[in-house]
Amino acid sequence: MKRIIYCAAFMLILSAPLNAELITKDYGKDLYRQNCSSCHHPERYGVSGPPLIAETIGKRKDAELTETIKNGLPSTNMPSFKGSLKDEEIAAIVSYIKTPAPSPKWETKDILTTRAISDRKGLSPRPKPDMTNFFMVVEGGKGDVHFMDGDTFTLLDKAHVGAIHGGPKFDNKLMNAYLGGRDGWVVKYDLTEWREVGRLRAGINTRNMAVSTDGKILAVANTLPENIVLINTETLEPTRIINLEGKVGAIYTLKSKEVFVISFRDRAEVWFLEWNSLIISKFQVDQPFSDFFIEPGERFLIGTSREGKQLSILDLESRKITKSLEGEGMPHLASAAIYKDDGKMYAAFPHIEAPTLTVMELYKWSVIENVKLKGTGFFARTHDNINTIWIDTGSDTIQIVDKRTLKIVNEVVPAAGKKAMHIEFTKDGKYALVSIWENDGAVVIYDTATLKEIKRLPFMKPVGKYNATNKKY
Ligand code: HEC
Repeated sequence: MKRIIYCAAFMLILSAPLNAELITKDYGKDLYRQNCSSCHHPERYGVSGPPLIAETIGKRKDAELTETIKNGLPSTNMPSFKGSLKDEEIAAIVSYIKTPAPSPKWETKDILTTRAISDRKGLSPRPKPDMTNFFMVVEGGKGDVHFMDGDTFTLLDKAHVGAIHGGPKFDNKLMNAYLGGRDGWVVKYDLTEWREVGRLRAGINTRNMAVSTDGKILAVANTLPENIVLINTETLEPTRIINLEGKVGAIYTLKSKEVFVISFRDRAEVWFLEWNSLIISKFQVDQPFSDFFIEPGERFLIGTSREGKQLSILDLESRKITKSLEGEGMPHLASAAIYKDDGKMYAAFPHIEAPTLTVMELYKWSVIENVKLKGTGFFARTHDNINTIWIDTGSDTIQIVDKRTLKIVNEVVPAAGKKAMHIEFTKDGKYALVSIWENDGAVVIYDTATLKEIKRLPFMKPVGKYNATNKKY
């Protein structure tokens, strides 16, 4: 008898903390289901409100999320829960919404329920800007993409996407734009009718997109679920979902081959997806490429892993690694400035963890200079018609490097003390557009010859600007 009692007491002690943990987890989940599901989805994938999962808000501070839930977000549909939820209830919800989404599903039927064809009227009269000098400006703070005449720098129209960190795409004929959001939303905007045509949600969390050269297929690369969704751009219907069995690094259109190139963050493989036959060829590389660029000849892919310890040169013809180089603190390759000088081709790229601009000679694959910068930059840009490279430095300063001497020769400071980031040029390279990357930000336009400011357009966190001819991402 005594023995049994001991045993039961022992079990009780052992199981107590476990139960407590389970209770708080379910407690947060139950409270979430009662209060938040209607707008944020029962599985937290997002409906009218954004997804609330580790992948999207996991890195946010508890205090900030608590504040949002308590006070709501003014002038949006996010209500305040000050009166209806106690502090400990909010705390339980916060810890629940920071957990990862368990094996998320987002299938063709889910995509189709979100598909909406718009009957919005276009602009009248219809503007006729020089489309080859046309810009899209992504206003991150408002979740909008603006359409801008690049000759006069006037804004013509905009479309709302929601959470967006960049990367809208033009099709090759400059007839349509595809605006992709972080949460899987894709908006098609017709640049001849000047109106939104429709939208759909292709995934829960999206990395980036690519358009086929003929403009018929849009490939959306999702990290949740881990797949590529191919969309018929005419009907805005998904035609195929390709499971990736890994986290996508990037997707890119190979124009010369009718192929989407896909890299991974966690698999040392590169995939070729032929968009007509849908044949996939997979080949082994020496490390996962979380980030890469393809040189203009489309023969070589230059990739790096998330650790950024080494740069690998992949020959897309032989499908073999032809060279590996030691890296310098996480090169940011997707934003490399590629240019020709004296018959040779170069790529200049920043490093996410080192205040350096590395200049590499392409095809020889040798680093010719590491230019020391004021701070760690993210985007490097140049244009054939100018003899400088412009680079942001994680500060209020854009530094300007001479292409020949590789010395810093100038700088611009769009607003003292405010972060200046991302540079894009007009088609002719005469003007540079720089973002003040703040909530009370702006796009500041400089004459590249005199460095005089030409115009300043206010935006709430203008994360990127994309010129139809330069369209470098
Ligand atoms: C009536 C709809 C609605 C309800 C109910 C609702 N939300 Fe929201 N929530 C929204 C919308 C819409 C947004 C996006 C606002 C914006 O445009 O920035 C949002 C944004 C948020 C954000 C900010 C997300 C980010 O990425 O910045 C958090 C956190 C959040 N909600 C948590 C909650 C929680 C927790 C609950 C339940 C206690 C809840 N919401 C209930 C509509 C709702």
